Amino acid sequence: MALSDLKEALPKYIEDVLDTSSNTTQKEHDLNKIHDQLSHISSTSLINNSATETSGQGICIAPKTAARCIKSAPRTLAYWRALKATLARQQHKKTIHIIYPGCGPFASLVLPLLAGHLNAQVKITFIDYHQAALNHLEQLIDYLGKDHMVADMICAEASTWQPSKNFDVLILECMLNGLQREGHVALVNHFAPFLVEDGQLLPGQIDIHANWIDASGELEYVQQQCFSKQKLNGTEITKFRRAIGTVFKLDRHTYLKAGHQKKTIRANSLNILERPDASYHFALCTRLLFIDNIRLHEYEDGITHPYYPALASQPAGGDILDVAYQTGAQPGFIFNRRQQCDM
Ligand SMILES: C[S@@+](CC[C@H](N)C(=O)[O-])C[C@H]1O[C@@H](n2cnc3c(N)ncnc32)[C@H](O)[C@@H]1O
Repeated sequence: MALSDLKEALPKYIEDVLDTSSNTTQKEHDLNKIHDQLSHISSTSLINNSATETSGQGICIAPKTAARCIKSAPRTLAYWRALKATLARQQHKKTIHIIYPGCGPFASLVLPLLAGHLNAQVKITFIDYHQAALNHLEQLIDYLGKDHMVADMICAEASTWQPSKNFDVLILECMLNGLQREGHVALVNHFAPFLVEDGQLLPGQIDIHANWIDASGELEYVQQQCFSKQKLNGTEITKFRRAIGTVFKLDRHTYLKAGHQKKTIRANSLNILERPDASYHFALCTRLLFIDNIRLHEYEDGITHPYYPALASQPAGGDILDVAYQTGAQPGFIFNRRQQCDM
């Protein structure tokens, strides 16, 4: 496809991805096409921008890698459906102010707006750590003729940037499974106080649950289903697991639980039940709820794969595991193990 045709093709591709009757393979095909086309929009090649850097709030993946995130159909589709639902709910507003930290070179999560598939009066504040990502995005927006949608483009570690006004929508995806290493939690906590009362965080809620998982048994089952293009069955998955408990919930109010320095957030204490046998490992499982019933389920994307924290040893049955989340250059959960008699 010639680049000149992209402006017309893009809304159609987006429509196909959002189409409930098309299957995941078709959606992936469309998203790959979008990725390839958008990669060539700028005169500066993304190929050269392959260095992941570490900011004060964790890793900031390279623009080239960030660009690839769009290819994950379940993830991208969940964000687009959630954005559509959010805009519909806020349509009474004259202008919808959106803040998008970690936008990357394609601003993939708001692409339906930029491509003209969704029509709404919006002003978007884009933030990214990488100037190269913003340069690319600027050329993309220019090409699509959507400069009027841009409120600001900020190159910064996003949590160092102070908004001067409130926002209606906060949309972002700066996370790895188990909320480790990237700054998603810090960024939600930094910007959530600037959301208007009826504003929407996307995803609205992230839940982390602890389980004992028979890792190799579960993985074999997941791979089999994947090969045969079958959906994962939640009941089957529970056969490889023993639930330990809910660890953490991230939503627009979580910042209220942050400690004095705002660096540590208390999570739940877990009563560790007996490890079934040595094939089971302590794991954190991630689920995303966007808005209404729009979700990203386990294994639908790398960000919802189980995370097995590197513990000195597996906790023992009867232990209490105090959990906290620590933001900063190496974000993630920290654990303090004690025995019940220490209480
Ligand atoms: C996982 S990519 C997501 C890209 C795009 N939003 C998407 O979902 O397809 C994360 C992006 O956030 C940026 N980022 C991560 N942490 C950041 C921070 N603390 N401040 C500013 N940008 C950050 C990275 O540079 C990268 O471009």
